[in-house]
Amino acid sequence: MKILITGGAGFIGSAVVRLAVSRGHEVVNLDALTYAGCLANLDPVADAPNYRFEKADIRDRAALDRIFAEHQPDAVMHLAAESHVDRSIDGPGTFIETNVMGTFHMLEAARAYWLAKGKPEGFRFHHISTDEVFGSLGEDGQFTETTPYDPRSPYSASKASSDHLVRAWHETYGLPVVMTNCSNNYGPYHFPEKLVPVVILNALAGKPLPIYGNGANIRDWLYVEDHADALLLVLEKGQLGRSYNIGGENERTNLELVQTLCAILDDKRPKNDGSYADQITFVTDRPGHDARYAIDPTRIREELGWRPSVTVEEGLAKTVDWYLDNADWWQALLDRDGVGERLGKTA
Ligand SMILES: NC(=O)c1ccc[n+]([C@@H]2O[C@H](COP(=O)([O-])OP(=O)(O)OC[C@H]3O[C@@H](n4cnc5c(N)ncnc54)[C@H](O)[C@@H]3O)[C@@H](O)[C@H]2O)c1
Repeated sequence: MKILITGGAGFIGSAVVRLAVSRGHEVVNLDALTYAGCLANLDPVADAPNYRFEKADIRDRAALDRIFAEHQPDAVMHLAAESHVDRSIDGPGTFIETNVMGTFHMLEAARAYWLAKGKPEGFRFHHISTDEVFGSLGEDGQFTETTPYDPRSPYSASKASSDHLVRAWHETYGLPVVMTNCSNNYGPYHFPEKLVPVVILNALAGKPLPIYGNGANIRDWLYVEDHADALLLVLEKGQLGRSYNIGGENERTNLELVQTLCAILDDKRPKNDGSYADQITFVTDRPGHDARYAIDPTRIREELGWRPSVTVEEGLAKTVDWYLDNADWWQALLDRDGVGERLGKTA
């Protein structure tokens, strides 16, 4: 299959590109290379005959039309987005432009291409979204595909808007879409502004390990390569017009997650003195910080037979190994705008 993947130079998109190329799909990676994009994430596939890169912005409709016409994809996987909640608090405008307007342009470009080709049977537009659109859970319950949307940050509101557009293009124009909403990812090539890489890199540098609030916020952690595998499965086997929640079946508080990372680092790269956990520091909470996210994965498990392949302890150990072995990759990113700063505190 020839797949046009947007955001393929980002964290999750690059995992999807690497997996799709390794499975023999032809892949066109469309990415604007914002501060979060990194072509080094594609080094393992850069010379593969079934991989192509197109530097383009999803807000640029003319560029999208050219890329559809030139590459004639069988399917689209749309991951390009602004993705960092703290940045959305400081500067929501880009999130609306890219996540809402960019998705609108992608839908319109895909629809024009699909119509011009005579509505080919197998065409798919797969929209990749987040569980954050469902809002915040109390101690009990899980998000299902029918949980009402209740986004609470500019990031999640922009992703929720894009999800609504995708559903509307299916219902109104018949565009063949599938959708996924996924929990927190972690793993190799994670940009060093998100919690897991920040903790690993600060630990190694002897810096404080910042935990927002009291660390009691709960997330359902999913290894990024498991997510990529689930996304390709939904693209190929998912029912049209349907959404699938993807979770890791690994709920942890942020404090537990950081303590687990510290224990792994204590084992793999022991300090001369004490534990990395001694560096844990509690900092002012993020405004509107959602208390708990949890995914009910019944639909994807029962309809498509998918489950995550690793526990969070196994996935974090692999992740730590990867960061220890790939200092060249992350050192080159530490100078990028905003990395290492506390963002999103508001006034
Ligand atoms: N990271 C998570 O835990 C998580 C969880 C669930 C869903 N998601 C969703 O998955 C997708 C990918 O997330 P990620 O963590 O890999 O993000 P990321 O920030 O690592 O990567 C985003 C990529 O999109 C590109 N991009 C941004 N704006 C663009 C534009 N206007 N035109 C073209 N390209 C542009 C960037 O250059 C970058 O390569 C997003 O849609 C996100 O909402 C992420």
